[in-house]
Formats: sequence, C-alpha cells, structure tokens
Amino acid sequence: MARRVMMRPPQDRSLRSSTVSAPDEHTLVTGGAGYIGSHTVRAMTQAGRRVVVLDSLELGDAHAVVDAPLVVGDSSDGDLVRSVCSEYNVNEVVHFAAYKSVGESMHAPAKYWRNNVAGTVELLDACLDAGLERFVFSSSCSVYGNPPRVPVAEQAPIGPESVYAETKAMVERVLHWYGVTRGLRSVSLRYFNAAGARFDGRIGEDWTYSINLVPIVMKALLLPDHSVSVFGDDYETPDGTAIRDYIHVDDLADGHIRALDYLAGGGASTAINLGTGVGSSVLDVINAASAAAGAAVPYEVVGRRAGDPMATYADPATAQEVLGWSARYGLEEIVRTAYNWHRQQVEGSA
Ligand code: WQD
Repeated sequence: MARRVMMRPPQDRSLRSSTVSAPDEHTLVTGGAGYIGSHTVRAMTQAGRRVVVLDSLELGDAHAVVDAPLVVGDSSDGDLVRSVCSEYNVNEVVHFAAYKSVGESMHAPAKYWRNNVAGTVELLDACLDAGLERFVFSSSCSVYGNPPRVPVAEQAPIGPESVYAETKAMVERVLHWYGVTRGLRSVSLRYFNAAGARFDGRIGEDWTYSINLVPIVMKALLLPDHSVSVFGDDYETPDGTAIRDYIHVDDLADGHIRALDYLAGGGASTAINLGTGVGSSVLDVINAASAAAGAAVPYEVVGRRAGDPMATYADPATAQEVLGWSARYGLEEIVRTAYNWHRQQVEGSA
C-alpha cells in the first residue's frame, strides 16, 4: 500500500474544513516532482490552475513541488489514484511518471516494461473508473529512433532503438486503443532534448542522475576535475559533432498547458512534437555555455556513443497549427538558466 503523505501549501485550507464541499476541479500530475513535471506544475499553478501531484519520490524531489499538494505514492497504485481523483475532484491528467534512462532500459528491460507500460495501464484504468476523459502523455522524440530525414515530422516512421523509447511508443498505442474502446482522448507530446531551468531560479534539473549533455557541461563548468567527453567529432555535420533540438523546459511546460486546453476544447487524440525546429551541435552547446559562464568548458573528444543519431531536430509545424504553440526560447536561454540554477545549487551547498 502506498505511503501517503499529504503536503498542502498553507493557503490551501479549502480541503481541511470539516464540511468540505466538492473541491474545485484539479489536474492530476503524475511525476510532478521530477524535472519536466515540476516545471509544468509550476507553470500551471502560476497560471492559476489547480494541480495535485502524485509522485513516488523514487527519482523526484519533494522540494521541487513548490505550490501544489503532493501525494507521495505510485501512479500505478489504482486504489490510491482513485482516492486522489475523488478527493481532489480530478478532471484531467498529465502523466510524467516513468523511468527514463536509455542505457538502464537496455540492461533492465523488465523494470521498464512494468513501470512505464503496465504501470500506465493501471493508471489509465483508475482514471477511467474516476470518470476522467482527458490525458496528456509525456512521450519522446526517441520513438523515431535514428530518423531517415530531418526535420522530423509526426508522420515520420516510428522506429524505437531502445527499450525506453519502445515503452514510449507502446504507451502511445495503448492510448490509441483506450480511445477506441473507452472514449479516452489524449495528446502524446514527443519532446526533443529538454534542458534549462525555470527563469525565476526557483526550480531546475537535478543533475545527480543525469547523463544528458547540458547538465554534464554545467558540471564541467562548476565542479573541479569535471570535463565533457564529446562523443565523436567525425559526423557529417558542420563542426563534426552531433546535432540535437534543445528545447527549454519552460517551453515544454507551456506545451502541456496548451495540450490540456486543446483537449478541454474537444480536441481529438493525437501525437505532437515539442521541439524548436533548430538543430544545435555539441560544440554549439559547449560554446554557448562558455559564453554564458564567461569561462571555458573543459572537454575532450572521444569516440562516438553507440546508437547516437548524427542529427535529429523537430518539424514543429503541428504544434503551432494544433496547439498554437511554438518555442519562445533558444540555446542561449537554455544554458543561461541552467548555469544560474546549477551555480546557485553549488554555492548553496558550499
Ligand atoms: C545529446 C548530445 C550526445 C553527453 C535525450 C534523451 C532521450 C530524449 C532526447 C526524452 C548527443 C552528446 C552527450 C556527453 C556528448 N528525451 N553527448 N557527451 O541522447 O539526444 O537523448 O534527449 O525522452 O530520451 O536521452 O541526449 O543529452 O544524452 O545527448 O557528446 O557526455 O550530446 O552524443 O549528440 P540524447 P544526450
């Protein structure tokens, strides 16, 4: 049975009175104590939306949930989900909770099938039991694998190249069939490379577990004896290093809010890329971070990482057409907010 610790902001007294009327409707955000989840929660609450977070804190940080009630438990616990949906009058869900390490997924596939796929089925059944009809899912550009061409549109072939990516593609198919059989309407958001931190500096990425490029670059700038291993400079790209679509986490947060609005307005189920449409190389990131920090980033070029696509970046047209969304920020804002956040964390722990 899940451990259930309710942490409510002081101002949220509506649920404590003895004669509680039906509370206002809330959005349930699973994994809302994680990186993208916490930024989405923050953006939602600052936009005046009511949110309740469900997170096991296995990988999330309770301190990242700054202005919403947090229920600590597993999103695959159907009884707990039904209880939260009832107590908070939940009418829609944003589902972030998942394991996300590509490398780990190849060594421990069962852990990923159980948590990311079976766990989501349990969540979906509980949500439908609670009468929910709208579901936004945290998917990934990794469902495309190594795309045959760039920019990548939603009609590109689905070709996952890791168990992690396959779990994202499988949940998208599960959602399709929940739509056919149960009338659930969903939007699967295929993120490109999430990076950066909230502009107000209140939350950011926990670099403890991350092996992604931007936090690695930040460690090289802020921690002694850290440097970046650049995985290959012999690609057929302008500077020889691999190209990705780095998207600010606050832009991703905004994309989720617009997806919720789209569904609330009656929108049909779909899958949508969230990317800037701009490709940046590894050296572009390193140079931008160096400019933001006013310091050189120590790095060395090593061999390519197996499975890395040479270049992938989004065709963002559908997000604009369907959601009215486009990225507001670029690489400069990403590295500046990331650097400010991680420097604050390092100085605060000194
Ligand atoms: C970025 C670039 C590396 C580390 C990630 C997620 C994936 C999906 C998209 C969410 C690559 C290079 C990296 C390092 C390097 N997001 N690099 N040295 O692999 O593009 O995919 O974002 O689902 O799930 O994994 O991200 O940050 O690992 O790599 O040279 O130490 O930086 O080769 O070109 P990736 P990444």
